[in-house]
Amino acid sequence: MTQSPNPISLFHDWMAEAEKKEINDPNAMSLATATKEGVPSVRMVLLKGADERGFVFYTNLGSRKAGELMENPHVSLCLHWKSLRKQVRVEGVIERVSDEEADAYFQSRARVSRIGAWASRQSQEMEGRWELEKRVAEYTAKFGIGEIPRPDFWGGFRVKPSVIEFWADQNFRLHDRIVYKWSGENWETTRLFP
Ligand SMILES: Cc1cc2nc3c(=O)[nH]c(=O)nc-3n(C[C@H](O)[C@H](O)[C@H](O)COP(=O)(O)O)c2cc1C
Repeated sequence: MTQSPNPISLFHDWMAEAEKKEINDPNAMSLATATKEGVPSVRMVLLKGADERGFVFYTNLGSRKAGELMENPHVSLCLHWKSLRKQVRVEGVIERVSDEEADAYFQSRARVSRIGAWASRQSQEMEGRWELEKRVAEYTAKFGIGEIPRPDFWGGFRVKPSVIEFWADQNFRLHDRIVYKWSGENWETTRLFP
């Protein structure tokens, strides 16, 4: 693996490769959160932006993950591309994406997905699928052909990275691992045994 001075540009190179090779969702990543007592939970989310400021995903602010993020801002991300045999791990703390940025992303989504965001009370119990379908029908009727604003219970989080690790498969499990740690001023690089 060639050692780039900047992990974000290396990440973009790997993501561009994954976009060409993965059969679907090259931007899928696991997001680990924890309660304030440190009890972990993990699930997949879609990466919707990555730059020097961090890694962005969107979700329902009433969900379990959002509840954990409010009480504990420390998270970990993991992307694994089977077709590339590569993995990226990120550790950091979250901050909320601005309303303007969340609005712009929300409006870029398909109309039905926007209605779905209104209809889903994510991570809350429902009696049956009919309950979701009923809510979708209600919001479809409510919005008609008009604008669909972003619900105030739906938004984005940005993971501000302190550690980013790149892992690339090598023969005989003698893999390459490069870790970037943010010193407060620049990225410091080290290599780890596989
Ligand atoms: C490939 C994939 C991508 C997903 N992307 C998102 C996403 O971007 N945002 C989201 O809220 N849930 C996403 N989900 C659903 C979550 O994994 C999870 O079921 C949901 O967010 C509820 O999690 P929680 O109860 O821990 O809050 C995705 C699931 C999969 C399998």
